Amino acid sequence: MRRSRGGWLGIALAMFAAAGAQAQAPQATVTPSSDGDSSSAGDRERIDAGFAMAPVPLDLQGRNPRLVGLGSYLVNAVGACLDCHTNPPYRPGGDPYQGQPKQINTEHYLAGGKALGPFISSNLTPDADGLPNGRTLDQFMTAMRQGLNLDCQPGDPPPHCPLLHVMPWPNLGNSSDGELRAIYEYLSAIPHAEPGATR
Ligand code: HEC
Repeated sequence: MRRSRGGWLGIALAMFAAAGAQAQAPQATVTPSSDGDSSSAGDRERIDAGFAMAPVPLDLQGRNPRLVGLGSYLVNAVGACLDCHTNPPYRPGGDPYQGQPKQINTEHYLAGGKALGPFISSNLTPDADGLPNGRTLDQFMTAMRQGLNLDCQPGDPPPHCPLLHVMPWPNLGNSSDGELRAIYEYLSAIPHAEPGATR
């Protein structure tokens, strides 16, 4: 549905007038919903772009396509997940940092295995049950918001426990619940893959 600004303004003014002397400022008429079911124009642009830039086939069966598209945008355009979570990120001859035409390493896309100092990036692709890295949505939210390494047992020593280190969770954790859900939905929709290398 397409409405002009004047249309919304007209409706808002009519509501304001109808409410009479006790009227309060009208509520915003378009709110991006956290489950992606009613998307603003800005969301729709990101969702469309997300689908266009996804480098692998997506399994949309049983999933909310808006969340998948938005998640793709956040993973592929904003979060830089590829650089750390794909090893190597680009195919031979396809590294844009070397002036080559960009070709993403789709065979090992987001399958981790990249060493960053003593830390190895996790495989974010779905396991046999369709869960990204075998994590539930709640576990994923905990890792992203609090930076907790979910493989740690109480008392396990640093540097690997209890927190994730290289992972930029202090930034990514500022994302809204809806955005983190969208990232999770996208990671559930990509194909399973194994790391291309483990260093
Ligand atoms: C600068 C590199 C870097 C970037 C960028 C990055 N990660 Fe990570 N991530 C890591 C590393 C390394 C680990 C594992 C170990 C650690 O941080 O100590 C990790 C761990 C994780 C984990 C925890 C996995 C688990 O189940 O235990 C999740 C989830 C995750 N990353 C998701 C993402 C997503 C989604 C993005 C993009 C929005 C992203 N990461 C971007 C490096 C990165």
